[in-house]
Amino acid sequence: MFRERGSKVVRRSEQGALRAGPAAPPTTAVAAAASDPGAGALRRLVEERLAKLLPGPAEAPARLHEAMHYSLMAPGKRLRPLLCLLTARAGGGSDEAALDAGCAIEMVHTASLILDDLPSMDDASLRRGRATAHLQFGESTAILASIALLNRAYGVISAQPALAPGLRAELLERLADSVGSRGLAGGQERDLNGWSELTDLDSVDDLNALKTGVLFVLSAEFGGRICGLDGEALAALRRFAGHLGLAFQTLDDLVDVTASAEAAAKDVGQDAGKPTAIALAGCDAADARIRQHLGEARAALGLCGFESATLERFVGSVFNGYWRP
Ligand code: IPE
Ligand code: IPE
Ligand code: MG
Ligand code: MG
Ligand code: MG
Repeated sequence: MFRERGSKVVRRSEQGALRAGPAAPPTTAVAAAASDPGAGALRRLVEERLAKLLPGPAEAPARLHEAMHYSLMAPGKRLRPLLCLLTARAGGGSDEAALDAGCAIEMVHTASLILDDLPSMDDASLRRGRATAHLQFGESTAILASIALLNRAYGVISAQPALAPGLRAELLERLADSVGSRGLAGGQERDLNGWSELTDLDSVDDLNALKTGVLFVLSAEFGGRICGLDGEALAALRRFAGHLGLAFQTLDDLVDVTASAEAAAKDVGQDAGKPTAIALAGCDAADARIRQHLGEARAALGLCGFESATLERFVGSVFNGYWRP
């Protein structure tokens, strides 16, 4: 049984910019996500590459570049690039290509978080243990940093020499589809303005597939395409990651009602009044839904035709206690 936390813990500063405190490492079940020791070195590789892929923070306009670094280099779990890299490795794909493909997705993800936190969206004050970008840099710079990160993502894939030109073009097309109105942007629109359509767990899953699932699918798919997967195996890989994304967002919605802001390293109580799986069916039903999605993810992973032990360990660390062999 779950115990719901009381009222919202974090209050947004009325005074504009909160100064960032020391970057707190993520600590919840979702946030501890990547506590798998094997993933630690890989996460450092991702973070070093992310920093190199951006213009330096002092380059003019310095405020914008500083905001991009601030949000991107904050202590996120890096789940999407790790999923991309570990998938590519499972099929013997190039690390060089998968690292940049995964970093591009992390840039898109971070861009989406900056927007998600804006006053006109979720109105959040804490992200990755730091003041949200708009509180730190002001709304105009935060929006521009999001646009700049999003566009840098396309630039990174376009310029990656280890990707054959045909594959590069396909990945760019998939990225555009996944971020646009039929993907993440469409999901966020429904999340903010389409509550009347959210009447049961399936409709919530449909929304979550767009706002969150697409980047999980894209991360695994990029890794899969880089290691040469196609046909049925690629379709199974996409199913695996789609269910992972649905389980992840449902777990995030549970964290929103059960964890403290300190443990989550971001605002909690954000979903009050919103028709999430928890609001519609309760914590135990949401918990069962997470298990169901992970069961389907596991079954699909078994059809991918590659050695998945490392990938499974990683997923196990993300879904601590939920992912059972
Ligand atoms: C947060 O994603 C947004 C959701 C899809 C729930 P993460 O929990 O992966 O956030 P970071 O990247 O670790 O900050
Ligand atoms: C956001 O979902 C998913 C995105 C596409 C950014 P949430 O609004 O629940 O994410 P958090 O809880 O703020 O990280
Ligand atoms: Mg949101
Ligand atoms: Mg939010
Ligand atoms: Mg949330």
